[in-house]
Amino acid sequence: MQRLPNLLSPIVIKGLELENRVVMPPMGTNLGNKDATVSDALLAYMRRRAQARPGLIIAEISAVHESGALIDTELGIYDDRFIPGLKMLSETIHAGGSGAAVQLHHGGRECFFLLNEGKALGPSAEPSLIYGMPPKEMTLDDMRMIRESFAAAAVRARRAGFDMVEIHAAHGYLLCQFLSPIANRRQDEYGASMKNRARFVVEVIEEVRRNVGDDFPISLRLSVDESIRGGYTQEDMLTVVPDFVKAGADVIHASLGTYGTPGGITSAPAEFDPGFNAFRARKVKEVVDVPVITVGRFTDPSLADEVIRRGDADLVSFGRQFLADPEFLPKARAGRYEDIRTCIACNQGCIERLMFEGKTVRCAINPETGQETIYPGTPAGTPRKVWIAGAGPSGLMAAHEASRLGHAVTVFEKEGAAGGQLLFASIPPFKKVYGAWVRWLEQKVRQSGVEIRTGVTLDEDALEKGRPDFVIVATGGEKVVPDIPGIDLPQVHDAWEILAGTVPPGRDVLVIGGGLIGMETADFLCPRVKTLTVVEALKRSPVSKLTSHGYMLHRRLKDGGCALILGGSVARIETDSVSVMVKGEERRLSPVDQVVVAVGLSPRRELKAICERLSIPHTLAGDAVSPRRIIEATEEGAKAAWGI
Ligand SMILES: Cc1cc2nc3c(=O)[nH]c(=O)nc-3n(C[C@H](O)[C@H](O)[C@H](O)COP(=O)(O)OP(=O)(O)OC[C@H]3O[C@@H](n4cnc5c(N)ncnc54)[C@H](O)[C@@H]3O)c2cc1C
Ligand SMILES: Cc1cc2nc3c(=O)[nH]c(=O)nc-3n(C[C@H](O)[C@H](O)[C@H](O)COP(=O)(O)O)c2cc1C
Repeated sequence: MQRLPNLLSPIVIKGLELENRVVMPPMGTNLGNKDATVSDALLAYMRRRAQARPGLIIAEISAVHESGALIDTELGIYDDRFIPGLKMLSETIHAGGSGAAVQLHHGGRECFFLLNEGKALGPSAEPSLIYGMPPKEMTLDDMRMIRESFAAAAVRARRAGFDMVEIHAAHGYLLCQFLSPIANRRQDEYGASMKNRARFVVEVIEEVRRNVGDDFPISLRLSVDESIRGGYTQEDMLTVVPDFVKAGADVIHASLGTYGTPGGITSAPAEFDPGFNAFRARKVKEVVDVPVITVGRFTDPSLADEVIRRGDADLVSFGRQFLADPEFLPKARAGRYEDIRTCIACNQGCIERLMFEGKTVRCAINPETGQETIYPGTPAGTPRKVWIAGAGPSGLMAAHEASRLGHAVTVFEKEGAAGGQLLFASIPPFKKVYGAWVRWLEQKVRQSGVEIRTGVTLDEDALEKGRPDFVIVATGGEKVVPDIPGIDLPQVHDAWEILAGTVPPGRDVLVIGGGLIGMETADFLCPRVKTLTVVEALKRSPVSKLTSHGYMLHRRLKDGGCALILGGSVARIETDSVSVMVKGEERRLSPVDQVVVAVGLSPRRELKAICERLSIPHTLAGDAVSPRRIIEATEEGAKAAWGI
């Protein structure tokens, strides 16, 4: 029987033949040059993904007008000078065999730099949800200019060799702002009712259609539900989608939410099940007769096949899965499902890195992503005997890469199992995916012939006898025990004991430390205890609510009745109470029958000093440098291996 018969079946969109129904949706990379042209790094990133031959690749947001670029590295399509670079991009996509589209974008009131200068445009002078500053309300002349810019950009896309354009009317950018009752407070024929709010989008589509010709496919990307309080609903949107099709849209790309939606539902965290948004595509299909693309946490091609089979959608976008594993599709075609590196929806390397750090795209579990031009593809000239201390994410990634480059690698892990902190990190709610990923990585390392010697502590003696050519010290961190009166009492335990289940949860529990480990341990405890308090010394929570995971975590704890005391330091632990200093005053919390310590880790680096003494070349990686996150652990592990 043919594998994935629905997903791998062809589809024709306005004469454009797509070999299969897998779509790589537009994903901004920040890999563009600072003059908004296509860079070699972007071409290398795209080449890697095009090799997988998805039916359609939609290249990332490209600004139709200078007033619409979010950042200087956003691709430009507002001038003919961009055509040569865009042509290389479309050719790169075509070289793999995929259909090539490019996304036409205007950021409106979410263009931070222009907002700062008072030059950003919006339907009304309603402040940006993300930056809190208002744009300039667009005049009818501004609107005409932007319509024409979309049309001129579409013509340029066609000249640059693209087979399709996608008009970005989703995620809180300019066209979505027109659709939104929060952003659009206009009193003219472009405001108030849903029909009126949709008018500008209809006109943009019509203008694009008039200019680009009748035979050129146009996709429209919509957030089917704005998913924000006061925003438009799915029901509202369904009343106007047919107007968009009448205006000239040949495909609807049914996305969700805006970047102002708390919890980052557009690139949904692991709290949302794979394919959770497919039902909205089905709703769209009920009101229009053009193909509909669904999107949202798809990682497994079999699920996508099923979604198409049951008629929810005609095509399926895999966004972050293309970052985690650009080869997932060929692997699925060959039935090698167990080889697929599944996206864990952590958002650390992709959307949150772009949005909050303004950096280029990466992937926390795939160090090649965004670094294709420096990723070493061929084995090292001289294979070395490499020893790696620690089989956490950093050590395992180092082993994966060092072995791929032809080195003779042995990993030492002092505990009985590989995985490091992820063995604990995967226990709190919605974190199973982390465990699945680290098991996948361990398996790949073993399959490559690397020996992982669990239950063996790498020490000076072994190093002196074994004399490896290179050591990667990925030994993680040591639990910090705070110096608090009462810390030795029997009801005091650490987060790891609670998560591992070696100590059962108490009844009235206080967690010391509101960092990620403390908050996640609280998340685990919340449904299991009567009362729960987290005390954090910092005045602001170290777990940012801006990140999707952080937002979800805070919300679950709040809904679960967990008290979070910020700016508090535990002064004393007694048999049935804990005293906390808050703003110079002592508060006695009682009853407390269990105290859980989660004040973090300090880097474990003894092996570094030993390697120095023995003159063995070495590198530190991951939490052993300083305790942080998976993305730093994997990146440093990989780079340690690349640098041998
Ligand atoms: C509950 C919890 C939740 C977390 N949630 C997240 C999250 O959501 N996102 C995120 O990014 N990060 C999270 N983290 C942090 C993340 O797990 C760490 O940043 C990451 O595991 C660091 O990887 P590492 O390989 O550097 O160190 P580790 O994972 O600590 O691995 C180091 C390994 O080295 C071994 N070792 C030490 N000394 C020796 C020696 N001499 N010889 C042999 N072996 C040795 C240790 O036993 C350990 O297995 C969480 C951590 C915890 C505890
Ligand atoms: C790094 C990154 C950049 C993105 N940039 C865009 C973009 O340029 N245009 C767009 O419409 N959506 C963008 N998105 C949203 C994705 O296209 C996709 O809708 C979203 O990630 C959900 O799909 P997934 O769960 O398969 O990742 C971006 C997402 C990520 C992770």
